[in-house]
Amino acid sequence: MGDLGQIVPMKYNPRDDKSIKAVMAKANVVLNLIGRDFETRNYSFEDVNHAMSQHLAVIAKEHGGIIRFIQISCLGASASSPSKMLRTKAASEESVLQIFPEATVMRPATIIGTEDRILNRWAQFAKKWGFLPLFGGGSTKIQPVYVVDVAAAIVASLKDDGRSMGKIYELGGPEIFTVHELAELMYDVIREWPRYVNVPFPIAKAIAFPREFLLNKVPFPMPSPLIFNLDLINALTKDAVVSENALTFSDLGIQPHKLKGYPVEFLTCYRKGGPSFGSTISEKTHRYDI
Ligand SMILES: NC(=O)c1ccc[n+]([C@@H]2O[C@H](COP(=O)([O-])OP(=O)(O)OC[C@H]3O[C@@H](n4cnc5c(N)ncnc54)[C@H](OP(=O)(O)O)[C@@H]3O)[C@@H](O)[C@H]2O)c1
Repeated sequence: MGDLGQIVPMKYNPRDDKSIKAVMAKANVVLNLIGRDFETRNYSFEDVNHAMSQHLAVIAKEHGGIIRFIQISCLGASASSPSKMLRTKAASEESVLQIFPEATVMRPATIIGTEDRILNRWAQFAKKWGFLPLFGGGSTKIQPVYVVDVAAAIVASLKDDGRSMGKIYELGGPEIFTVHELAELMYDVIREWPRYVNVPFPIAKAIAFPREFLLNKVPFPMPSPLIFNLDLINALTKDAVVSENALTFSDLGIQPHKLKGYPVEFLTCYRKGGPSFGSTISEKTHRYDI
């Protein structure tokens, strides 16, 4: 990620202004990547996704030397979203732009990459239980994006002489998938026979509900939700694709990558027999074409 000395990790506590000021002291750019897609008993969605962003924007503004503030939000952030996380992301965009009008907001779609929280979780679940639950039949449309393209968009916006200041960008990949189609891609790469269980939304919500209900009622931390995350299930009741008139990758001079191929290659570690065992149907077809 950087040569020795180029990246200097600094500790801070989001509830301690002094530590945030110390981190920002010698900076001129702030990228706010703080976010969480589940609540804990210490931090609500409001705390992590909204209040902290607002707080960072206030401190960055007071600093005087911060020339760029990039707020990482989420595709689908809206005050009317069925997901609490997306509602708090929308609130954070509004607050950040109010406090720091020169800020740039990036709304990435579901991010795909080595440590992503969708394909890895699906693959782990499918390997462990032999099937993948498809909420609402997996018909929700999503527009997953390669993590490298999101990073490139952030860098491009920092190098555009301020043209992206005060603007909101929606970062979706070049293809729209249904959740089911994306799961098929995952199964193809891990070389497992696709097996699904259709879980209607009301049942998925009922399975996920106890964690949220007990979160602040029991004297111990609840486990992090993996697949059955109530808020993500709520989010999946609505398609999440780039809106028609939004600013996108093309406005930053970037052509996002298709997912098939290198962006999902990390999934080969889930193959029975190791990453280079056998070949997928698509790879065989490709070989015969040559
Ligand atoms: N992954 C996606 O599909 C996706 C899609 C759209 C938007 N986003 C947004 O992109 C940003 C980065 O996400 P990511 O996927 O890279 O997730 P990530 O690896 O979990 O990063 C989130 C960061 O927020 C920090 N954080 C969370 N709760 C915190 C708290 N209470 N106090 C202090 N720090 C806290 C985490 O710190 P620790 O690691 O120390 O907990 C971590 O550094 C987030 O704002 C997320 O909402 C992600």
